Amino acid sequence: MATVLSVSGSPSASSRTNRLLRHLDQRLLAQGHEVIPLDVRTVPAEALLGADLRHPAITEATELFAQADGVVVGTPVYKASYSGVLKALLDLLPQYALIGKTVLPLATGGSTAHVLAIDYALRPVLSSMGAGHIVQGWFTLDKDITVHEDGSLTVAPAAGEALAQVVDQFSAALSRTPLLAAAS
Ligand SMILES: Cc1cc2nc3c(=O)[nH]c(=O)nc-3n(C[C@H](O)[C@H](O)[C@H](O)COP(=O)(O)O)c2cc1C
Repeated sequence: MATVLSVSGSPSASSRTNRLLRHLDQRLLAQGHEVIPLDVRTVPAEALLGADLRHPAITEATELFAQADGVVVGTPVYKASYSGVLKALLDLLPQYALIGKTVLPLATGGSTAHVLAIDYALRPVLSSMGAGHIVQGWFTLDKDITVHEDGSLTVAPAAGEALAQVVDQFSAALSRTPLLAAAS
């Protein structure tokens, strides 16, 4: 099975995007994939904002991308686009860090007015980084994600079904793709 890097691009300590990705990780794990979570907010700010390519956290993130067969990229919509911290990390990766990889773009947002942020803002960046196959992404409204006091998460039924479908399409695409990272 594939190695999946699951990247949450929210700077928020109580991030819904982060919780949603960790929730979806469980579905990929159940399908036999190895899933490695990466929360961009845990990368030291001085490395991100100082563009410190030699910082161990940046080196480690670069290696995680290199080892992955597939990458889930999740972001909150901020100002009609993806988050600044996600861009800060992507900027420090090699130009073709996504070459040959299957990518699932996901976003959470407060308004359906910005549902196209995935396709107009995030997808072109992923494509410019060489992503071999960017599968259908999904935008989830923040009001459809409920985080409970015990830390568990509930997704509204229609949104949950749509997310399960795009995750399964991503999983199927991974199964069809030669696992270049694992073979190298
Ligand atoms: C600074 C900021 C800007 C935002 N801008 C937008 C926006 O332009 N469009 C939108 O639909 N939601 C916007 N939102 C709402 C967030 O995208 C939404 O609540 C998201 O689920 C937050 O994810 P997070 O908890 O992972 O940070 C914004 C939220 C913040 C804090």
